[in-house]
Amino acid sequence: MGIYLDSAATSYPKPDCVLKAMRHYFEDIGANSGRSAHKLAQEASRLVFETREGIAKLIGVKDSSRIIFTSNATEGLNLAILGSLKEGDRVITTSMEHNSVMRPLRFLEEESGIKVDVIKCSKEGVLEPDDIKKKITQNTRLIIATAASNVVGTIMPIRDIGRIARKHNIPFLVDAAQTAGSLPIDVEKSQIDMIVFSGHKGLLGPQGTGCLYIKEGVELTPLKFGGTGSRSEFEIQPDFLPDKYESGTPNLIGIAGLGASVKFILEKGVENIRRKEEKLTEYLLQKLKEIKKVIIYGTQDSRKQTSVVSINIKNMESSDVGDILDRDYDIGVRCGLHCAPIAHKTIGTFPSGTVRISSGYFNTEADIDYLSRAIREIAQ
Ligand SMILES: Cc1ncc(COP(=O)(O)O)c(C=O)c1O
Repeated sequence: MGIYLDSAATSYPKPDCVLKAMRHYFEDIGANSGRSAHKLAQEASRLVFETREGIAKLIGVKDSSRIIFTSNATEGLNLAILGSLKEGDRVITTSMEHNSVMRPLRFLEEESGIKVDVIKCSKEGVLEPDDIKKKITQNTRLIIATAASNVVGTIMPIRDIGRIARKHNIPFLVDAAQTAGSLPIDVEKSQIDMIVFSGHKGLLGPQGTGCLYIKEGVELTPLKFGGTGSRSEFEIQPDFLPDKYESGTPNLIGIAGLGASVKFILEKGVENIRRKEEKLTEYLLQKLKEIKKVIIYGTQDSRKQTSVVSINIKNMESSDVGDILDRDYDIGVRCGLHCAPIAHKTIGTFPSGTVRISSGYFNTEADIDYLSRAIREIAQ
């Protein structure tokens, strides 16, 4: 791949330390965690514990046992949503959500008669927090918001939503798939009850990893039941965390890689990563604004968005632009609906979609120069 600009799907490349940690696990450890008592098993358990501690530090959580490892953000969202709602409940969410939120909700709407109240965001993907207040009813049992749109990058007012949710005593679930590792977050300060993210996007870890944080006092029905290595004398699921929600052999090689990537991020500092990414996004927006026939969606303001930028070229299908970028320029972007049809309906690009350019930690201004030259040529 010449130039990779698809970090919103998954980050690439990964830091060297991630590859090293994964190799170290397979070559020198290899054992299961939390089961056997031999040295290698203890080493594996230590690795899982350290990764959990790193994640907890990253999001401002004191008790790392409340971090649940999942296989991706989708699994975490399913656990939080399916595990907390029941018949007759209402849930409030936004019109910028990914299908990893919308599909479990629509499923529950169909199967269990829950009611979904969707707050319409502006064409730029901006949410007005007061609109949430207006939708709260006696039966509202959950508020869900993405921390930033995966289509246009718009950053959501998470603190304001958290304040409203806490005031009304409603659990608040945040989908931070697009911001973990790229935008600082503190779950206490933002009054978040549950937060979900992938390990393989901004956290720069391997695929097959993700996390769900569950605040003390929030009880969920597990998605999976089975072996945990703990309380093996009982046929019922343990009721303590993380075991309650982590059945089966964990993705140890993935967790090894994630531990290294989180360490890398903590060393660099999320604020510094954000500054770097914001600067590159500003540069990209500026370059794109200079090209006639290019339509840019979203806020077009790097301070209000992540490094996700969606565009179209007038009179061209997004998929054709993506194909040309790939074939003729060796640039990887993502086109279409990005698993978020409701977000495209909000910004007015449904069903044709957009060309999504998402830079990452390792992209440079030279990459953006090359991409903008390519877009200019295609537009001409
Ligand atoms: C906002 C958002 N939520 C959830 C997901 C799902 O993440 P994963 O593929 O890790 O399950 C994505 C992935 O693109 C996303 O962008």
